[in-house]
Amino acid sequence: MQSAGEDVEAGGPTVALMAQWADASARSLMTDAVPVRLLGALHDCVLSGDAPSLAAAYPAEGRSGDTEAAWREARKLIEAVPDRLIDFMGHEPQTNEVRRSACLIGGFLTVAKETGLPLRCFEMGASAGLNQLWDRFRYVLGSQATWGAADASVSIETDWHGLPPPVDADVQVVERAACDRKPVDLTEPMARRRLRAFVWADQIDRIVRLEAAIALSQAEGSAVECSDAVAWASSRATPADGAATILYHSVFWQYMPPESQAALRAVIKSHGDAASKSAPFAWVRMEPPPDDLANMELRLTLWPGGDERLLARVHPHGASVNWLDAGTV
Ligand SMILES: C[S@@+](CC[C@H](N)C(=O)[O-])C[C@H]1O[C@@H](n2cnc3c(N)ncnc32)[C@H](O)[C@@H]1O
Repeated sequence: MQSAGEDVEAGGPTVALMAQWADASARSLMTDAVPVRLLGALHDCVLSGDAPSLAAAYPAEGRSGDTEAAWREARKLIEAVPDRLIDFMGHEPQTNEVRRSACLIGGFLTVAKETGLPLRCFEMGASAGLNQLWDRFRYVLGSQATWGAADASVSIETDWHGLPPPVDADVQVVERAACDRKPVDLTEPMARRRLRAFVWADQIDRIVRLEAAIALSQAEGSAVECSDAVAWASSRATPADGAATILYHSVFWQYMPPESQAALRAVIKSHGDAASKSAPFAWVRMEPPPDDLANMELRLTLWPGGDERLLARVHPHGASVNWLDAGTV
């Protein structure tokens, strides 16, 4: 990115990629995540197999990358196929971070343990919907606990601090669904590759987990409904007798305008008010506090009652969890 920035300042070929943002302020370049778009576009060329010289300079399993060689090759590619890169850069960066399930699971287990009921799980802002399958993954939660089938195809390790979550809870997911205003359609090869391309190329473990979760999702045929969260949560996540209904999300709240946040809060409160002991309703979310976007919290509000609890402080990609909750059971 340093070299690409210098290339723009020197009037080099990278300028052509920036035409869409010719009049943009520095702030809107960052809001639009233009650096992420450019690195994603180059990574996409690597993943496609169409840029072997660039791929040779990129990191791979057991090999770190060579940034100087990568920039030399990237610059040649920018000169050779600018339209391909411009086209990729027109896509809003979208990721789906599977290891966030290592954070969310603490909320799901707590609801299962405290209600003693099967779970209905509804995810908003699900992107490709990979975290819908949270109960099919294997978790190694530091040295404190493990959860899930030992032979699961998706394995997630995280540094866990504090008490373990209630891993002895009886977990049965009887219904699951997800929505996104722009779902990533995993049946489309280009959409799958774009999802991979937006992961930093040197974070091989994230890419491996993503691949495994995509394969699992395809095998399960799981899907994400195209809908705005407010209308979807209102109609789909109503409490139902004999199960605990969980509405959850991760790294989603900040993308909604304040009026949608207020509308969604009203929907959640109305579902909470309708909840009962035999039809409880839970709101589980992994989001940053408003004043600190770099750190994340896992919070649970459980109705009837509606008490809000800070369950954990967590790493934005789920690399670590600092569990704070002492439980109520
Ligand atoms: C940063 S991504 C997080 C994806 C996923 N939850 C995860 O943790 O990997 C945020 C997602 O929220 C979706 N989103 C933003 N506003 C939305 C809305 N009003 N309704 C539904 N989805 C929305 C975006 O399309 C995007 O897929």
